[in-house]
Amino acid sequence: MDVKHYYNPQGEEILDEKIYGGSPTGFVDFNRSKYRWDSNIYDLMNANTWFPSEVNTSTEKKNFEALTDNEQSIYKMTFAQLSFNDSAQEEYLSDFRRLANNRLVKSVISLQIMQEVNHSKSYAVLLDACGNSEEVFNLYKYDAALNKKNLQVAEQFAKYIDGGSADKMLLSAMASVNLEGIYFLLGFSYIYLLGDKVPGARDMIKFIARDELNTHLPLFANIFKTIQKENNIATSTIDAAYKMIEDAVKIELEYGHYLLDQFPIMGITHELMEQTVYNYANDRLKKIGLDPIFDESATTYLQKLVTKHLEMNEVKSNFFESNVSNYAKSSIDLNDF
Ligand SMILES: [Fe+2]
Ligand SMILES: [Fe+2]
Repeated sequence: MDVKHYYNPQGEEILDEKIYGGSPTGFVDFNRSKYRWDSNIYDLMNANTWFPSEVNTSTEKKNFEALTDNEQSIYKMTFAQLSFNDSAQEEYLSDFRRLANNRLVKSVISLQIMQEVNHSKSYAVLLDACGNSEEVFNLYKYDAALNKKNLQVAEQFAKYIDGGSADKMLLSAMASVNLEGIYFLLGFSYIYLLGDKVPGARDMIKFIARDELNTHLPLFANIFKTIQKENNIATSTIDAAYKMIEDAVKIELEYGHYLLDQFPIMGITHELMEQTVYNYANDRLKKIGLDPIFDESATTYLQKLVTKHLEMNEVKSNFFESNVSNYAKSSIDLNDF
């Protein structure tokens, strides 16, 4: 590796560092943030710090065994897929970080990487308590639909991640928007539907969902918008971004429909799933500054369940207010670019 990769006294001024392209001097200075959303998201990520040991999993095995056969299958197939998402995201983030230029944005990604590892650890803790860790982590070997979704998620990550152009960086950021904003969502809602029957799983997912939706999604939405603003992005690239989210919607619904057909539970319908995923996809498009393209319907029951569990609890909000004093909670702006 070139020494300049670590220290380049002739490099750019910190406030000139773009997300893609250029040569940073090599300093991380949180007091000179070019974008502001980067350090705000970093502070919010830190304020939300949690550990799997905070979740009570002592009755998870007993609770799991009391579920119906279909509910047990939904539980296992959901964790089998979500755990893959976090494993893939950790690796993708390491690659994206390496190809990015702005050191402060890279630092925020470093913290996100830590959080994704924490999510992987939390699945292992939960499933170990449940007594089916090995079975769940091996399901991809036996279930073709699960294997297919994992493969499609991996293909979206792999397709553009070579740092060859700003357009490719933009589309690789889109893969992350899809992961944080689409591929987790039906899984989260299934676990919330089981809810009080499996409080260990519900509480673990609550913490994970807050990380994914409150900070990781805004981070990559801002990265997407910033790369677009800082570079002359081709119209065909934006068309490809729309195509990627259309593919993500198909991938999420295909696995969702498969699970529902195999293991019907609690009045979920294909239509409810479609409305939910379409609404989320439109929201993600708006977050990255593009136009919504899917049929919009009223906020669904599944969306309301996910939103309800995003609220910070007492402990976390106290922690937040006492620890993050450099900005008032009401004025946090994660989209100020
Ligand atoms: Fe995660
Ligand atoms: Fe994430």
